[in-house]
Amino acid sequence: MTTTAETGAALRLHDPNVRGFASDNYSGVHPEVLAALAAANGGHQVSYGEDDYTARLQELMVEHFGPGIECFPVFNGTGANVLSLQSLLPRWGAVVCASTAHINMDENGAPERIGGLKLLHVPTPDGKLTPELIDREAWGWGDEHRAQPLAVSITQTTELGTCYTPDEVRAIATHAHAKGMKLHMDGARLANAAAHLGVPLRAFTRDAGVDILSFGGTKNGLLFGEVVVALNPEAAHGLVYLRKMDMQLASKMRFMSAQFVALLEGDLWLRSASHANAMATRLRAAVDTIEGVRPTQKTESNGVFAILPPGVADRLRSSFRFYDWDEAAGEVRWMCSFDTTEEDVDSFAAAIRHELRDYRDGQAR
Ligand SMILES: Cc1ncc(COP(=O)(O)O)c(C=O)c1O
Repeated sequence: MTTTAETGAALRLHDPNVRGFASDNYSGVHPEVLAALAAANGGHQVSYGEDDYTARLQELMVEHFGPGIECFPVFNGTGANVLSLQSLLPRWGAVVCASTAHINMDENGAPERIGGLKLLHVPTPDGKLTPELIDREAWGWGDEHRAQPLAVSITQTTELGTCYTPDEVRAIATHAHAKGMKLHMDGARLANAAAHLGVPLRAFTRDAGVDILSFGGTKNGLLFGEVVVALNPEAAHGLVYLRKMDMQLASKMRFMSAQFVALLEGDLWLRSASHANAMATRLRAAVDTIEGVRPTQKTESNGVFAILPPGVADRLRSSFRFYDWDEAAGEVRWMCSFDTTEEDVDSFAAAIRHELRDYRDGQAR
């Protein structure tokens, strides 16, 4: 039998022209990132982060966030969040977060089970915490019966596609710090926030008072990888040991770092995020003109949230994949990626329009 290695033919099991609106991690790897991975291949490099690519990544992060920061590449976003929070808190610590936060909804309890931390979550209308909302759970210091609220975690952009302004982050940081709490930011979509706000990354992170950041890469065109950035290293303890204990220490770290170098060396991070945001804006503009679709959130990044009449989502899904967000309310989530095209958006919008027309006709009969 001839192997693919012998023939030189690549094994492809899917149709690379099929794209949907399910998640920004359904997309593949940006070609420039793949090229960077290939360039980082060959020869030997010291393992566990003592390589030239990880050193360059640290330099690039300093260019973005300023001197004195420390970065720790990890495999995934859940790991980045758990590691960040663990480094901020003692065993008796608790984290105030939005109820919709990924750490609360979508990490299978990892902050609690792996991190050993209690989450104190607060309902929000739009995924964003405020000082007032934080205060609903930030109380009870000194009470041995209550997990001690010692950190706040916010997501930028939020799980609902909304974006904190630099002033909003600053108000939260000032409030948290005044109460002796530290501030973590889950930046799985950090680049989308910078693209939306039109400001440098540090304007709504370090300069706004964030202590530690989960810097997302996967949703911005990487094969995998995120970086924990200790923006205020004095607030974070034991990151180097905790990363290993959390099973987030990559031996061949050069390949994680090389991808981030590809993102950050030039403007790939911003180009890709701006494009994904622009596709969501295009989709939002289209659905705003479709009778029967009710958008539920502002479109401030690469996702559109909307309520559809009963049955419409399932019919649409026969041609485009996407997820329910709140099934009971009929709310769905449509995500765009760095590789979503205008044609993808336009044909999806046409399909939505078509299904809504059918729905209305059915109602009229
Ligand atoms: C807000 C947010 N944080 C973190 C993550 C990272 O998750 P994962 O552990 O799957 O990389 C995601 C992925 O969906 C996310 O949306």
